[in-house]
Amino acid sequence: MTIDHDVLVLGAGLAGMRAALEAAREGADVAIVTKVHPIRSHSSAAQGGINAALGEGDSWESHAFDTIKGSDYLADQDAVEVMCREAPADIVEFEHMGVIFYRNEDGKLGTRAFGGASQARTYFVGDITGQALLVTLYDQILKAGVKVYEEWFATTLYVENGACRGLVALEMITGELHLVRAKAVIDAAGGLGRVFEPSTNALICTGDGYALAYRAGAPLMDMEMVQYHPTTLAGSGFLMSEAARGEGAYLLNSEGERFMKRYAPNKMELAARDVCSRSEVTEIAEGRGIDGNVLLDCRHLGADVILKKLPQIHEMALDYVGLDMIKDPIPVRPGMHYQMGGVKTDATGATRLQGLYAAGEVACVSVHGGNRLGANSLLDTIVFGRRSGKASAAYVKGVAGSRGGENVLHAEQARMQELLARPYTGETHARLRLELATMMDKHCGVYRNEAGLTEALKRLSGLKARYEKIAVGDKSRIFNQALTFALEVGFMLDCADAIVRSALERKESRGAQSRTDYPERNDAEWLKHILITYRTGKEPELSYAPVTITQWKPEARSY
Ligand code: FUM
Repeated sequence: MTIDHDVLVLGAGLAGMRAALEAAREGADVAIVTKVHPIRSHSSAAQGGINAALGEGDSWESHAFDTIKGSDYLADQDAVEVMCREAPADIVEFEHMGVIFYRNEDGKLGTRAFGGASQARTYFVGDITGQALLVTLYDQILKAGVKVYEEWFATTLYVENGACRGLVALEMITGELHLVRAKAVIDAAGGLGRVFEPSTNALICTGDGYALAYRAGAPLMDMEMVQYHPTTLAGSGFLMSEAARGEGAYLLNSEGERFMKRYAPNKMELAARDVCSRSEVTEIAEGRGIDGNVLLDCRHLGADVILKKLPQIHEMALDYVGLDMIKDPIPVRPGMHYQMGGVKTDATGATRLQGLYAAGEVACVSVHGGNRLGANSLLDTIVFGRRSGKASAAYVKGVAGSRGGENVLHAEQARMQELLARPYTGETHARLRLELATMMDKHCGVYRNEAGLTEALKRLSGLKARYEKIAVGDKSRIFNQALTFALEVGFMLDCADAIVRSALERKESRGAQSRTDYPERNDAEWLKHILITYRTGKEPELSYAPVTITQWKPEARSY
C-alpha cells in the first residue's frame, strides 16, 4: 500500500505527539508512524519532572546558565536560550490541557529541587510526570484528528533527489510493508538506551531514529555524550528518580558515609549527574561499595513524603529488591539513561537533510551538550517538538507531493525476504544484542580510555560481521517480533559505532565523556562539536562544528 500525508512523524512519545499536534494546528495533514501504541512510548517512564523558570525570583537566564554549566559548556547557548525562555508557557499550556501538576499549600504550582539547578524549578506529578504528560497529549492528538499508524515499524527513510519524502514501514500485525510518503518527516523516534546494559530505558529504545536518519545522510552530533543516571536499581537497572534526592535523600557508601561531601561539597547529592555517577563508580572501585552498588537512603524523608511524592519508586523497590524505602536504604548504581547527542538540528528541528526534521532525545539541537540536567529532557521534547511541528507545517506549504518511491518499497520487500529466507547459522539477535550492550558498558561507560575504546571498535567490527549472517527463527508474517528485533540490532550497531568513534575522537574529559587518559577539559582544542556522517561502503566521516557561545563564557565547573 502507498499512503500520502503532508507531515509524517516517526515516533509517538512526547516529542512526536507534540510535533504532530502543532503541525495539525497549523493546518497540515499529519500522521504518526510508531512501533508501539503511543502511551507505551518511553516518555511514559520519565519520573521526576519538567523544568521551567516560572516561579517568583527565578529567571530564564538562571535556568539557561544552570543548563549550560551542566552541559560542561558544550551546549549551543542560542538553543538553550530558546528552550529556557519558552519553557514557562509550555508548562502552563500543559496544565491547561489537563495535566494535574503538584500544587503546594497555597494552591500554586509547586516545585522540587533537581540536580545541577540553582533553584527548585522542577514541576511534577508525583514520580509519574512523563506518563501524566503523555496521556494528556494523546487526548489532544485524538481530538485534533491526527492519524496514528500504531505498531508500524519503520525500516528505511525514503529520500528522493536529496530530500526526505517519507519512509517504508512494516505493519506488524499483517507483516506487510507500506510506503508512507510525506512532504516532510519529523524523526521523533526516541533514544538508544539499550545499546548499553544496564539501562533505565525501555526495551524499545534501540536507536532506530538515529540509524534511519544517519543512513539517509543526516549527520549525528555529540554522540560520545552518553549519560549514566546515578540511581538505577541494583539488578534490574530501573530508574529510581532523582526526585528522591530532590526531596532530600542521601547517597551512602558501605561505611554509612554521605560520600558526595568529598566530590561536590556544595550541592552534595544534587550535583549534576555526571559528577554523581563518577563519584559512585570511584567509591565502588575503592572498595566502599556494597556488591557493586551504593545506597539511596530515603528513611529520614518519612512515610508521608515517600508515599505521596515517590509512590512509584517505593513500589518498584518493594517489588524488585524486596526493600521498603520507608525502612531501608536501597542499592543503586549508575546505569545508562540518556543520549545527549543525536541527529543534528537547528532550533526549528531542521536537520541537514532537506525535508527531515528531528525532535526529542533522537535530536541534538544542542541544549544538553556534555551532560543533561535532570528534568530538562521532558522540556526539550515539548519545546522542540512544538517548534519542529510548526516549522515542518510551514515548509510543506511550498512542496509538491512525491509520486515516486515504489523502487524503495520493492528494495525493502526484497531485503526482508532475504532476511527471512536465511538459514539458521546459530547467530541470534538476542545473543548479539546482549554482547553488544555489555561490551559498550564495559568499554564506553562512565570512564573511558584509548585502549578500551579501540577494543570496542574491534569488537564492533566482529559483531557487525556476525550480524550479516543473523537468521530470523520465526518465518511467519503476523507480528513477527523475531524480524523486528533483528532489524533493531542493526540500528543499535550503527549507533554504537557512532558513539565509539566519537568518544575516541574527543581527546579530553568533558561532561559525560570522562577519559582517564585525558582527564582534563581542554577548551583550547575541544570546545567544539563532533559530527559523524555515514558513508556507504566506507568508514564514516568525522567533522567539527563550533559551539555557539552567547553570554556565558566557559569557566571551571564545580558543585
Ligand atoms: O530521575 C529522574 O526522574 C529522571 C529525570 C530525567 O532524566 O529528566
